[in-house]
Amino acid sequence: MTAGEKIEQLRRELNYHNHRYYVDNAPEIADYEFDAMMRELQELEAAHPEFDDPNSPTKRVGSDLTTEFKTVAHRFPMLSLGNTYSLDELHEFISRVEKEVGETEYVCELKFDGTAISLTYENGALVRAVTRGDGTSGDDVTNNVRTIRSVPLVLSGDDYPPLFEIRGEILMPYASFDKINAEREAAGEPLFANPRNAAAGTLKQQSSAVVARRGLDCTLYQLAGDSLPFASHWENMNKAREWGFKVSEHIRICRSAAEIDDFIAYWNDERKRLPFPTDGVVIKVNRYSDQRALGSTAKAPRWAVAYKFKAEQALTRLLSVDFQVGRTGAVTPVANLEPVLLAGTVVKRATLHNADQIALLDIRIGDSVYVEKGGEIIPKITGVELSERPADSREFEYIDVCPECGTPLVRFEGESKHYCPNQSGCRPQILGRIIHFIKRKAMDIDGLGEETVELLFESGLIHDLSDLYDLQASQLAVLPRLGDKSAENIIQSIERSKQVPFRRVLFALGIRFVGETTAKYLAAHFRTLDAVMSASCEELTETEEVGGKIAEAIAEYFADEDNLRIINRLRRAGLQFEEEERTLESALFEGKSFVISGVFSYHTRDELKELIEAHGGRNLAAVSANADYLLAGRNMGPAKLQKAQKLGVRIISEEEFVSMLEGAEESQPAAVEEPQNTESAEMPSQGKLF
Ligand code: IVH
Repeated sequence: MTAGEKIEQLRRELNYHNHRYYVDNAPEIADYEFDAMMRELQELEAAHPEFDDPNSPTKRVGSDLTTEFKTVAHRFPMLSLGNTYSLDELHEFISRVEKEVGETEYVCELKFDGTAISLTYENGALVRAVTRGDGTSGDDVTNNVRTIRSVPLVLSGDDYPPLFEIRGEILMPYASFDKINAEREAAGEPLFANPRNAAAGTLKQQSSAVVARRGLDCTLYQLAGDSLPFASHWENMNKAREWGFKVSEHIRICRSAAEIDDFIAYWNDERKRLPFPTDGVVIKVNRYSDQRALGSTAKAPRWAVAYKFKAEQALTRLLSVDFQVGRTGAVTPVANLEPVLLAGTVVKRATLHNADQIALLDIRIGDSVYVEKGGEIIPKITGVELSERPADSREFEYIDVCPECGTPLVRFEGESKHYCPNQSGCRPQILGRIIHFIKRKAMDIDGLGEETVELLFESGLIHDLSDLYDLQASQLAVLPRLGDKSAENIIQSIERSKQVPFRRVLFALGIRFVGETTAKYLAAHFRTLDAVMSASCEELTETEEVGGKIAEAIAEYFADEDNLRIINRLRRAGLQFEEEERTLESALFEGKSFVISGVFSYHTRDELKELIEAHGGRNLAAVSANADYLLAGRNMGPAKLQKAQKLGVRIISEEEFVSMLEGAEESQPAAVEEPQNTESAEMPSQGKLF
């Protein structure tokens, strides 16, 4: 056997066993045998680079090379689904369908709660994986999707169309989700709120090696293409299963509303025992001819609807209430519960929001309470089962002093939370501010995690964030768990942070309500910290996105003696308190605002944005009367185009934009030419998806 043949054989066998393991859940060989074959293939491929193939099973481990995702247009738009929580509305949907096409068949399937993906296969090989994006174009995440073991890289059989798309959902099973969040918690990293966010976040990871380790899964639920083997959804999905795709087994053909209701009633409860999240049932008209007759609106097909399950609830006992003090001094009551299983994970704690919420629901220690999961990490208590209230229960008394430092709490007008006003003496506030300060998006001081910050604080080496800049490597090296090397790394990282641009320094200070974006606007508007500090509330509100409440919080921050002392020390340490002047390539677009939309041929959207800013222009997120130009690519939504036309925003193509730039290079400084041709923006393609 030649090396090439051996490589082929190993790839085939590995693909087969991979499918048996990850799709069929029925492995035939031991893990070590699989690993040995994989190693053999890796060695052969390394020795024979001429046989390299992006779809080799060895590529499943991903790589650390970071990639910027290209925006890719969908050949057929990725629509969403109309949804309902009511069986009556579902029955109306069925009546509408049957009025149009007569009695027909439906396919009922689960609605998977992950993130949508479109996979393209050419001659049986995966060539592209694209996220839903805005429905007309999405991000090319092929390298990341290749690492998902249940996605076949090459198909089985020989009766697949030469070119087709298959769509489905990338899911994070509860087990992977719990594991990742446990790791993140241990590392002091922010937790994912739910498996859906974790799946979507993972898919957009820059490093596919990270994706490979995250335990994602992929279930497919729709085929699209010009030469599909069958004329119905059901038959094609069964065929897709033969080609190697993971197609849910929990799909049924239903022929009446009653059968659909049964399917829903069954899964309403049974889904709690599935290892991955679902949030409803999707009901699809089976035959493509019927689907075509029913058609689609701009947003969703008329031949399908989603019935959504009500949020899951659990009943459990409230054991006690803790009070957490955050970085800003806000106090949050947190319920300790008797552990209970809810939506696939064990819940022990729930947020109670604030004193008003507790009073409103009359929640008492010892009560049986209903817990529900919203979009947040911590579930919430939504009610009390009064029939189970103990006879001797007493109304809950909210605290009036800080549980950490004993300072009397205050309540600001219009705010539902209590605050501890002892900013400079209350431990969690000081620690919280330091931890915020070192975050990646702030000063980016790596090597210093939450635990190390606590350690430094406990050992008296730092009392506030300005002390960081006086630390010596020798002081750090003697601390438990830190050696010479990590001590040196931390010091270097602190040193490097002195170059962090002003807008991030401003964000890092942790002024209440001043997030990343607000800090950016403030830095752009005022340019120096001194200017921000001496601005009146009125002047502050002239900044974009800064209203009265934020302005007051800023003024209050700079009125505090202790904050001023810290700022002075940071200034002496050499932090950037001035926004660097951006050297503009030209003033071509000065005073002009752009909105970018669609897919472009010569530049990525980020490149276009950069170009606009480099020539003095501004980028806006949405079409509004403030926009001067709509830079329109292919496959742009018709609504945006119409809005731009209505508001008199000029619509230009990428080519026109480029020629404006070229004009600028020839004769600087130049005024912006008014583009003559507003017709050239291509209209969205009228793709059909059956
Ligand atoms: S079919 C045109 N089937 O739900 C219809 N979608 O709300 C295309 N989803 O973006 C979708 N499970 O991400 C379909 N069994 C299923 C689904 C499903 C989950 C998601 C999908 C879609 C969203 C629409």
